[in-house]
Amino acid sequence: MDAQSHPPIRLGQDLYQLGTTKFPVYLSLGEVGLLIEGGTSATAGLIAQQVASLGLAPERIRYIALTHTHADHIGAVPRLRKLWPHLELVAGPKAAAHLASPQALEQFLPADRMIQKIFVNNGQLDGPLPELERHDFRVDRVLAQGESLDLGRGVVWTAHQTPGHSSCHVAYHAAGQGIAALGDMTGYFDPGLDLIWPNYFASLRDYLASILRLAQLPARLALLSHNGAVHGELSEFMHKALAATRVYHHQLRQRLASGEDQAALCQKEAQWVYGFAPIASPKAIDFLCGCLCRQSLKSDDLDATLALLAADEGGTGRVGEVQAAVARG
Ligand SMILES: [Fe+2]
Repeated sequence: MDAQSHPPIRLGQDLYQLGTTKFPVYLSLGEVGLLIEGGTSATAGLIAQQVASLGLAPERIRYIALTHTHADHIGAVPRLRKLWPHLELVAGPKAAAHLASPQALEQFLPADRMIQKIFVNNGQLDGPLPELERHDFRVDRVLAQGESLDLGRGVVWTAHQTPGHSSCHVAYHAAGQGIAALGDMTGYFDPGLDLIWPNYFASLRDYLASILRLAQLPARLALLSHNGAVHGELSEFMHKALAATRVYHHQLRQRLASGEDQAALCQKEAQWVYGFAPIASPKAIDFLCGCLCRQSLKSDDLDATLALLAADEGGTGRVGEVQAAVARG
């Protein structure tokens, strides 16, 4: 196994981290199993090997639940389904609608090839994977806000619609175990650098509202869709994500207001981000930086927005604490 690959990491009772460090998926086991995250095509074979190394019959894994439909979060689904045809795909309503559209495959295929190329360049794949005859992204079960997936043995995962990173983003919470699977809703966290690159690609306001809302959930373990899990109070990590977003947004606006050319700024940002987050090509990261600039330019008073959002949520308790901490900076 290369540096990015690892044997299954046990995160708690009946909870494992699979895939690679940069592109993890999580396996939660009750009577039946659930994979959280759709992985990438490049990690599908590894995930199957990791499941086998746990001595688990694949039939026990009944579900695979998506956090959102970006290519690096759905790619393993068709390949795992080919191996395990019983696997049921679970997604939020917007993700299900997108995956049923003809654009889904058009957007997925080039992005997936780009991710495979990264794996090949890193020596994690021998070459591009053989093309599949069919990409089966059919969603079997749609979870709306507050709907749950009961795995048995007291393991119940509840879906929370968390738009902002993408409009279709969903996070999952296992109240009994105190675990929140956040997907990409808090951005790209690099634990080594202790740095968060905020990812409010679809909407800054929704991104903040989603973080404030989820900060209220009781949890002591956050499962992220890049770089693994974060231990500790969820509200503290959410505060960190909000603070990072606030700083990044203000910096982007200041740079643009001082006359920095947006295209040049995005190019510089893409180089910086690629240095610690080589999960997409510099060209793709450049495009994403353009999305961040657009969202930041639309939001001229982030602190007022944060105060309003906190007031919407009641402005008390955990949300109030998080909001007050962000205001202190
Ligand atoms: Fe994403």
